[in-house]
Amino acid sequence: MSLRILGIETSCDETAAAVVEDGRRILSNLVASQVNLHARYGGIVPEVASRQHLVAIVPIVEQAMAEARLGWKDIDAVAVTAGPGLAGSLLVGMNTAKAIALVQGLPLIGVNHLEGHIYANWLMEAGTVPYPAFPLICLIVSGGHTDLVVMKGHGHYLLLGRTRDDAAGEAFDKAARILGLGYPGGPAIQEAARGGDAAALKLPRPWLRGSDDFSFSGLKTALLRLVEAGIGSRSIADAAAGFQQAVVDVLVTKTIEAATGHDMVQIMLVGGVAANELLRSTMTQRSPLPVLLPSPGLCTDNAAMIAACGYHRLQAGKIDAWDLDVMPNLKLG
Ligand code: KG4
Ligand code: ZN
Repeated sequence: MSLRILGIETSCDETAAAVVEDGRRILSNLVASQVNLHARYGGIVPEVASRQHLVAIVPIVEQAMAEARLGWKDIDAVAVTAGPGLAGSLLVGMNTAKAIALVQGLPLIGVNHLEGHIYANWLMEAGTVPYPAFPLICLIVSGGHTDLVVMKGHGHYLLLGRTRDDAAGEAFDKAARILGLGYPGGPAIQEAARGGDAAALKLPRPWLRGSDDFSFSGLKTALLRLVEAGIGSRSIADAAAGFQQAVVDVLVTKTIEAATGHDMVQIMLVGGVAANELLRSTMTQRSPLPVLLPSPGLCTDNAAMIAACGYHRLQAGKIDAWDLDVMPNLKLG
């Protein structure tokens, strides 16, 4: 018998709800973005984010149920992001999920947002996605994280490396600010880089040899110094292309080295930065191993990935009690 899970995600600035069948088939997947609300501040304002989640959450859950053409009796569990994320934002999703689960008599499943990003790779899109095989190495690149993780099986994670300073997405966002490209920075840099020459400006590659860790703050500072000195005849496009190429070179090279060094069978690329076209194509072309990556829309924050992860937790009997609280600093594993 199929299991249908309602997923709820409010960890940052997207209010999202989705219904997923058997951890794989998306019946509905809705994201209400707050980007326009935060753009004028150049970044996310936590207080504004939580207030907007409050406004958006009930309509988005109702819409997710309506688009899936389901009633509450058709739902088997409610999965919700418990952390990491902004406390006030997480609370809105958590309390909504608890209220629904309690009233409808459904199990409540707390999901780690990063694990949710990983499970986006189990979602079936147009029936073309192969089923992931273990052991695999997973590069999680989001606004708050850059983690290199070995996944040995469902729910089994070993952290190999992480960023020592800025996350990859944070680096994109800060670089975009330096270049006056606005927020969110990742898509803005990608667009600006289209006409640029990535080799026009000399930018460093922070390799951190001998370690699986990453570091992007030096690269950001190097970009800032170039801009302060005046990039002269060089265009913003060249700077954006050079920055994007430097980040991608480091992420791809280090991930492939770690994957081959640890005898992995696959590479997974997940999180908002995994929507980056250059990162996707470079990883796929350079990797000797198969590369799994969700479609760009499932890389950035969504609730289908939370429902997919919730399905695997439910299968493993991992149901949470009513005293489940939000965990803004929750770690993977
Ligand atoms: O996973 P995500 O949606 O939210 C977090 O969990 O943080 O990731 C958001 C991050 C932002 O820093 C955004 O600039 C970046 O992902 N991002 C991109 C692209 N799309 C989103 N970075 C590079 N290229 C993109 N196309
Ligand atoms: Zn995320």
